[in-house]
Amino acid sequence: MTDSFTPRAVLVTGGAGFIGSNFINYFMAANPGCRVVNLDILTYAGNLKNLTAVENNPNYRFVRGDICDAPLVADILAAEKIDAVVHFAAESHVDRSISGPEIFVRTNVLGTQVLLEESRKHRESGVAPEFRYLQISTDEVYGSLGPAGYFTETTPLAANSPYSASKAGGDLLVRAYHETFGLPTLNTRCSNNYGPYHFPEKLIPLMIHNIIDKKPLPVYGDGQNVRDWLHVKDHSRAVETVLKKGRSGEVYNIGGNNEWKNIDIVNLVCDLLDERLGRKPGENRELITFVKDRPGHDRRYAIDAAKIKRELGWEPSYTFDKGIAETIDWYLANQTWVAEVTSGAYREYYEKQYGGR
Ligand code: NAD
Ligand code: DAU
Repeated sequence: MTDSFTPRAVLVTGGAGFIGSNFINYFMAANPGCRVVNLDILTYAGNLKNLTAVENNPNYRFVRGDICDAPLVADILAAEKIDAVVHFAAESHVDRSISGPEIFVRTNVLGTQVLLEESRKHRESGVAPEFRYLQISTDEVYGSLGPAGYFTETTPLAANSPYSASKAGGDLLVRAYHETFGLPTLNTRCSNNYGPYHFPEKLIPLMIHNIIDKKPLPVYGDGQNVRDWLHVKDHSRAVETVLKKGRSGEVYNIGGNNEWKNIDIVNLVCDLLDERLGRKPGENRELITFVKDRPGHDRRYAIDAAKIKRELGWEPSYTFDKGIAETIDWYLANQTWVAEVTSGAYREYYEKQYGGR
């Protein structure tokens, strides 16, 4: 790999999901000369309405399809002369992986292997000499921390949920394709993201949504589990940085240095919404309900992101105060988006926009 790479045609997988769509919106604005092909099967988590800002951009193309479909992936890589793959597509929700692990293995392990194999053949065809493959992964592959310490890139993988085990499987395949076949790979592992277009099954958007509707706020276990929160725009910028400047075969941790206990985050969101919804101070906190813990619930995640800062110059730009306030305001201003996502109506947009093509 060269020190700085300027991609010309990027295949983004899972670009209709939360982080993928934020990434495409950010990346296309920041890199107007680059083409982007978004391959997404549109599961429950894929929503093309997240991408209205780019849908008419001549440099953007959407393909509805499965990352496990090898001939389709091969066609896209060749026809579009793809020189970079940024692989977001996944089953991403830990609770769903507990109730139904199989699809997690198919999408997150087999899907990754198909993309790697087709990338290998594509690169060996010589069409894209500077080709690189970027795997988007998670801090959850490292398992759980006690009250002290941080995950570094050399922390052993110790995944505890079917979701994180499937992501770790994908990461190990990435390593194997680099070591065995010399595929130029990059692997990022990020902490919990928050921001616009976050599906309201995940903690922060679920709490916002339930507070607005005055529904119970389910806090798992004792609420003392810790997560490190990063704004999705900072993650998008980190992914762009690694894609352009990362060293082949390397892993880069990405985090916000922003640890919160779940109960403290829920209290904060309650209080910010008391103010915005004209409710009396403390009213929303009355909705908090402690419920049975998530099985295998990891106690604490905390990322050491010194490597990406030292080697590539990336660090978060959002303060949490600003990011969480903006996020809450985004949800309040986009209640139609939330209503369509929760009712399932957003799925009709694909037919209207792309039906018959
Ligand atoms: P998401 O669930 O919001 O979106 C996933 C997208 O992948 C959806 O658009 C879905 O339709 C698509 N998809 C699923 N199966 C597919 C298949 N077989 N073929 C094509 N497309 C398929 O997920 P997210 O939260 O945006 O996460 C994106 C990536 O980032 C994942 O790899 C996840 O592991 C990783 N990650 C997420 C977080 C987080 O906080 N959300 C943090 C670190 C890493
Ligand atoms: O750390 C990165 C990971 O962050 C990503 O890899 C995953 O794709 C993403 O979903 C996220 O996983 P978490 O399990 O940390 O996120 P979730 O929003 O599901 O939960 C955050 C914390 O809040 C976790 O400790 C469980 C707790 N929780 C969650 C929900 C949905 C509750 O207490 N109540 C809830 O209703």
